Amino acid sequence: KKVLLSGIQPSGDLHLGNYLGAIKNWKVREDEYDCYYFMADLHTITVRQEPAALRKRTINQLAQYIACGLDPEKNTLFIQSHVPQHSQLGWVLQCYTMFGELSRMTQFKDKSAKHKDNINAGLFAYPSLMAADILLYQPDFVPVGEDQKQHVEITRDIATRFNNIYGDVFKIPEPLIAKTGARIYGLSTPEDKMSKSVPDGCVFLMDEPDVIARKFKRAVTDSDRENCVRYDKENKPGVANLMNIYSTFTGKSFAEIEKEFEGQGYGVFKPAVGEVVIDALRPIQDETKRILADKTYLESVYREGASKASYVANKTLRKVYKKIGFVQP
Ligand code: TYM
Repeated sequence: KKVLLSGIQPSGDLHLGNYLGAIKNWKVREDEYDCYYFMADLHTITVRQEPAALRKRTINQLAQYIACGLDPEKNTLFIQSHVPQHSQLGWVLQCYTMFGELSRMTQFKDKSAKHKDNINAGLFAYPSLMAADILLYQPDFVPVGEDQKQHVEITRDIATRFNNIYGDVFKIPEPLIAKTGARIYGLSTPEDKMSKSVPDGCVFLMDEPDVIARKFKRAVTDSDRENCVRYDKENKPGVANLMNIYSTFTGKSFAEIEKEFEGQGYGVFKPAVGEVVIDALRPIQDETKRILADKTYLESVYREGASKASYVANKTLRKVYKKIGFVQP
């Protein structure tokens, strides 16, 4: 069976970008693949976190994974810090990652510009830990949004470098990027990707319907005052983003959407996109609340997940330690 793996940082509440760029594409493959999905809590501490909030978001995220349709019987769902092999292989891989290549990572450049008072070594070495997350499970594919492509590419480089020295230890994984939804932009800032740091333009999966409706009504469209639903990413990025969201949820093509809203302005289109999103999220929200009420169940899911994951992860780690020349314990 082929293997699939991905993770999300519980550094904020899950949003539409995480859902459309990642989770929505994880689900469809659970019957064909062995799937590993985790909460990347180790990664979140590269930026300061409030401990109680981090703990809560991590559990919420697990409940939302399940609510989005990831069946814990078919997928291995776990919390990254519960599987110590991530940190262990992470250290090893840091020694096979170059200062120069880490300096070129766009996420590091962005985050170090944003958090000038805390440019810590973990933030810099982040991609080596992510490479460990991935390579431990020897996956064929890593389904992520477009912004994480560079991280999967550096993972391939690190794995290839390691294999060239020690033989075939790691499988070289491919990024799996969705055709639509791979890059969702902020509703209030359609030039930037949707992110929790701009909450006005960010639709969180657990937002109340009236909040979602308001965010879409206020979505920035374009400045040419054409008031016409037409796909033109260059000149009308806001409209293109809304069309992309609408298309991903309804399965309609851009041409079909243009036809549907012909002669109608943004005043009709924007609330219509909001409605589609509200309807799609409602069952996920209800299910999340139901699952969150059962803490014992959630505990059993993440414990079982960690035990399955560390069994697989340990095999790879042992192999790596042996190849490097560490004495067997
Ligand atoms: P993170 O936590 O920032 O995002 C999680 C997933 O959501 C996708 N995503 C988006 N997709 C479309 N439009 C957006 N606006 C948008 N914002 C986020 C991301 O591409 C990602 O797929 N480093 C990773 C977490 C990670 C990981 C891993 C991923 C740690 N280890 C191993 C895969 C494999 C990150 O920060 O993603």
